[in-house]
Amino acid sequence: MQQSPLPTESPVGAPLAQAAAGDVLGGSGAMFDGIAKRYDLLNRVMTFGIDQRWRRRAIALLALPTNGQVLDLATGTADLAIMTAQIHRDAKVTGLDPSQGMLAVGEQKVTRAGLDGRVTLVVGDAQHLPFTDASFDGLTMSYGIRNVPDRLAALREMTRVVKPGGRIVILEATEPPANLLTWGALLHIRVVVPRLGAWLSGAPAEYRYLQKSIAGFPSPAAFADLMREAGQDVVAVEPLLLGVSHLWVSRVPQKLGQG
Ligand SMILES: C[S@@+](CC[C@H](N)C(=O)[O-])C[C@H]1O[C@@H](n2cnc3c(N)ncnc32)[C@H](O)[C@@H]1O
Repeated sequence: MQQSPLPTESPVGAPLAQAAAGDVLGGSGAMFDGIAKRYDLLNRVMTFGIDQRWRRRAIALLALPTNGQVLDLATGTADLAIMTAQIHRDAKVTGLDPSQGMLAVGEQKVTRAGLDGRVTLVVGDAQHLPFTDASFDGLTMSYGIRNVPDRLAALREMTRVVKPGGRIVILEATEPPANLLTWGALLHIRVVVPRLGAWLSGAPAEYRYLQKSIAGFPSPAAFADLMREAGQDVVAVEPLLLGVSHLWVSRVPQKLGQG
């Protein structure tokens, strides 16, 4: 695990220290350290394995050029970073996350997948990225933006580090609108996930936070507006399975005078 693989513009030390000191409800890498070892298992059980299909969809929407450089924010145990490197055999992926515990699990998975040279994991905070402007051809973030206290700051950082014309794909859990079709999904998110998560992980506060953070996330349209405010052109907003997750796809605009 590295501190910073690419030229550094803003040092990560101070923001990381703040993130590590953050409380559970504020969302930070620290709370994920506690559940890192069981995180993948819990994900598969609680989403019935559908989460991997949605990560695959996120990668397809990235429309990556050949030899693409990809940044995966809030990479956690590196599922999306690894999948991107497996689908795009010529791509190089940097995964960034403040949780050393999640990254340690991710490192083992990267090695087991034989991707040591192509997937690099670094400690960092999405609100202060340690990369120079226009370093990446594409950027992904799955189930991470919900945990970032200043989402607009993180979105502005994404706009800064992706090359003009490059895509940003964000996958996040959302609460579907309450109606006859979605009551089962709402019951699952509000009642089953916190209880099952608490029981399987032994970390009840973390899984209560998960449910509360989903309920507190902006509407899909409001989040798309935040992406626009951060200087991105929103290309698509795609609901998944009645709206229990959404994919937002945006493009970093060309600068004036460029094609
Ligand atoms: C639910 S996990 C998602 C992990 C992975 N992307 C996935 O799809 O499984 C959320 C991740 O967000 C990370 N996180 C929390 N605060 C963050 C921040 N300020 N910047 C970047 N990542 C953050 C946590 O450490 C955790 O690994």
